[in-house]
Amino acid sequence: MKVTRRQFLKIAVGTAVAAGMPAFPLRSALAQLKTAVREFRFSASPARVNLGAGTDFIAWTYNGQVPGPEIRVRQGEIIRVVLQNFLPEGTTIHWHGVPLMNAMDGVPHVTQKPVMPGETFVYEFEARPAGSYMYHSHSHYQLDQGLYGPLIIEPARSQGAYDREYTLTLEDWVMRDGGGVAHTQRRPPMGMGGRGMMRGRGRGRGGLRSGNGPLLEPLYDGYAVNGKVGPAIKPLEVSKGERVKLRLLNPSSATIYDLRLAGHQLIITHADGRPLKPFKTDILRIGMGERYDVEFLADNPGTWLLAAAEQGFGEGRLRIPVHYTGIREKEAEGPTFHRGLRFASYWDFQALHPSAASASQPADRSYSQQLSGGMHSAYWTINGYVYPDAERLGVRTGERVRISYWNHSMMSHPMHLHGHFFKVVNPSVPEDRWILKDTVIVDPMQRIDIEFLADNPGTWFHHCHNLYHMEAGMANVVVYES
Ligand code: C2O
Ligand code: CU
Repeated sequence: MKVTRRQFLKIAVGTAVAAGMPAFPLRSALAQLKTAVREFRFSASPARVNLGAGTDFIAWTYNGQVPGPEIRVRQGEIIRVVLQNFLPEGTTIHWHGVPLMNAMDGVPHVTQKPVMPGETFVYEFEARPAGSYMYHSHSHYQLDQGLYGPLIIEPARSQGAYDREYTLTLEDWVMRDGGGVAHTQRRPPMGMGGRGMMRGRGRGRGGLRSGNGPLLEPLYDGYAVNGKVGPAIKPLEVSKGERVKLRLLNPSSATIYDLRLAGHQLIITHADGRPLKPFKTDILRIGMGERYDVEFLADNPGTWLLAAAEQGFGEGRLRIPVHYTGIREKEAEGPTFHRGLRFASYWDFQALHPSAASASQPADRSYSQQLSGGMHSAYWTINGYVYPDAERLGVRTGERVRISYWNHSMMSHPMHLHGHFFKVVNPSVPEDRWILKDTVIVDPMQRIDIEFLADNPGTWFHHCHNLYHMEAGMANVVVYES
């Protein structure tokens, strides 16, 4: 029987609803063994969602919900996710930030074949190290259709010194059927001067259909937290005197947020899951793919907003109320954004745990990566190449590898390396203070260097975490040579 797309959506939505599809971690029999296996069943399917404003629409979901269910395990446990694909196209799941074995990394055509409609695939890996992560589809534009969720690895034993904790997943949405992807345009493949700047054949596989250019970034109309927008966002309840921890995750496809909590300073404790010497800030910038753990001391009773600065795209509408228990509900007070506020940048952070590596030694291998595109071309490039016609950055096990990013464009690029944490090179402090991350924002016309130890063999995707830049070519791979 030939099933049209419309019928398929109906069937798939029906299936997801009928099955209820809760996010039930199944204690498998193996849980009695020393290493606990935590099993989760994910069905990727279209489903009707409502973010709390406007009408229902069809998104692509894990288990019928956006964001997908929170995976929360302890360090050392085995995460097993049984993925069933009820979508009309192939899919994969990437465990963003977790330095796992290459075969489980979830990049189609790089680490695995896409999981085709009707197929099942089992991901299994050790949860390590503790920290805040996220997972998301790595196929086509599925990230911007709703396929992402939080992944939290708690320390094996000790807990932090905080009283309360919230996970906040920040999302950019076009609240209509199909999400952002369905409501944007393709750029013509060659703009003026496009070919001149580009090396390789300049044709993409995957998201790019022949004869058409890549998609433009959509105009989002919903900035959600944990799947809700505006007044539907659940206030964070706190009590006076508490130390409150927030895990901020940004799986948005194309939005960087500058966040401020009215009436309080934020204390940054972790960047991309890695601990820092706690650092106070008024404003926290979080790019696509980044995670920050922050804490604040609830010492100023009232109703306040944790909100994003408005950059002209509407992200200022992201407003999360923080409410003190026992205080009479009143109009929440929002933060102001003005000059002179403390704005934390990578250069301000200091590592908590000095690394084993002693004095700065030169890297064993260096790569320079010129980030360009946007102006006269439909494509986004690294050293002029459009993925998959891109460079392969060769490394050998045990090497210290340096990558220098030179951003020659007028947009920020959150660059992400799979399978490794890297140090953000800060020439003005000793190396043992360089922070560890896996995603780093390279601002317009800026240079940033990173260094990583090649200690996880495989073929690792390396790309800009703006989905629309990645799908328009801004990606390549790091390859271990034997
Ligand atoms: Cu969030 Cu290639 O990853
Ligand atoms: Cu980019």
